[in-house]
Amino acid sequence: MNHAVTLQAEQVRRRLATFGQSHLLTFFDELTAPQQASLLEQCASLPLEMLAREVKGWIAAAPAHDDAGAAIEPAHVVSARTVDDAAYRALGEQMLRAGRVACFTVAGGQGTRLGWNAPKGTFAATPVTGKSLFQLFAESIRAARTRWECAIPWYVMTSPQNHEATRAFFSEHEWFDLGASTVRLFEQGTLPSLRSDGKILLSERGSIALNPDGHGGAVRALHASGALVEMQREGVDTLSYFQIDNPLAKAIDPLFLGLHSAHPQSAGEVSSKIVAKRDAREKVGVFCRRSNRSIVMEYSDLPAHLAQAVDADGSLVHFAGSIAIHIFSRHFLERLASAGHELPLHRASKKVPCVDLATGALVEPTTPNAIKLESFIFDAVPLASRSLILETSREEEFAPIKNAHGEDSPSTSARAQSNRAARWLEQCGVSIARSADDGSYNATIELSPLTALDAEQLASCSRLPKRIDAGATLAL
Ligand code: UD1
Repeated sequence: MNHAVTLQAEQVRRRLATFGQSHLLTFFDELTAPQQASLLEQCASLPLEMLAREVKGWIAAAPAHDDAGAAIEPAHVVSARTVDDAAYRALGEQMLRAGRVACFTVAGGQGTRLGWNAPKGTFAATPVTGKSLFQLFAESIRAARTRWECAIPWYVMTSPQNHEATRAFFSEHEWFDLGASTVRLFEQGTLPSLRSDGKILLSERGSIALNPDGHGGAVRALHASGALVEMQREGVDTLSYFQIDNPLAKAIDPLFLGLHSAHPQSAGEVSSKIVAKRDAREKVGVFCRRSNRSIVMEYSDLPAHLAQAVDADGSLVHFAGSIAIHIFSRHFLERLASAGHELPLHRASKKVPCVDLATGALVEPTTPNAIKLESFIFDAVPLASRSLILETSREEEFAPIKNAHGEDSPSTSARAQSNRAARWLEQCGVSIARSADDGSYNATIELSPLTALDAEQLASCSRLPKRIDAGATLAL
């Protein structure tokens, strides 16, 4: 080891010792010089102060969330039906034409539940042609650019695990004709996986076990990657945010943009869309109110008595299911990033392969052995002074792909996509075969966003069929 490396090793050793993490160097002397340098680098960039505070909190048994039922009240929700006003739409369209809007997609997650090993955005999602989620949203953005004659850059957050594969996919597909320079891929950060006593795990003798830091990491990553500065330079002040897993998400919604900008319940910082929960069990975050602020309680944190509470008419009290569609103002994100606001960390028990410190062997655990820490972007909602929560229609805007089978799977999502296309076509006077049993549509239809972004635009399409027969499969 040269002198500089010895010095760095000494500093790292001392810092690790201060925070009770010296075990990370157990195998240091057996590593090659490049491995040693890499491990020192990894150790030096660990947020040890923050982790120590976090671990102290949970070992002191501080609850991750306040589950005192009395303090949690139903969300204040505005229905899209009551505020669908031409003036708000016009305002949203004006924002688009002025080049103030960018799309922002979080695509850093791993499709573990779906059993898909590539980035989730590469998953074939549409009902007839099997377009990938990335292609579908790229087409939406292209269509919006044409319709409102504006630029709309697309920011896509990846993770270290899927960044290269995501870039390769976009490149292979020639950036879906968006123009490579208008799609900005940037990586989110990572956090180490910990044992329940707070000790950091090694994934190899010379590597720390890291996991993506959750989509809340977007605040820091947008700042650190220079994306916020770039947006400012380009005159973008509003971000239309959606997750990669919901093919019905409207990448651009002028009404929502207009409401975010001018509705009295919005402070123009962050706005959110919800749908009524399917039932008490549905795995969606729930908008509620605590201390006069809107908050989102993740399904895994919502106590059962709150999830199941019903009104006199039997409807869920906490019905406001988050569909993870938001609008953020750039100023709000800048404020969070520069004030060093740490969004709270959520803990999840996971099985994380790790090195046994006694033997140096790699252990594949069969039960959860580690805690993964993540922050969630929706924890920014209570940091806004006021926040608009807009109820929209599930059939029109929410059919996520989460699981390989059953609810929220590729097949339920494909059916919902086809049904939405059929409804829009019916609204345009096309007759569509229905099943004699239950009246459901008896055809599989795929509508490209390049054909129409909504029923209104579809009506002006010149090549619509007059009718669609039973059992037909059609891509328009
Ligand atoms: C998520 C929301 C839930 C919401 C539901 C709607 C969380 C924690 N929960 O649930 O409140 O009701 O969607 O469908 O988000 N991602 C990253 N980086 C990460 C982790 C995730 O970019 O480190 C992205 C994923 O690529 C995906 C999205 O965030 O686009 C959601 O992540 P996921 O963990 O699948 O959340 P859900 O349990 O589906």
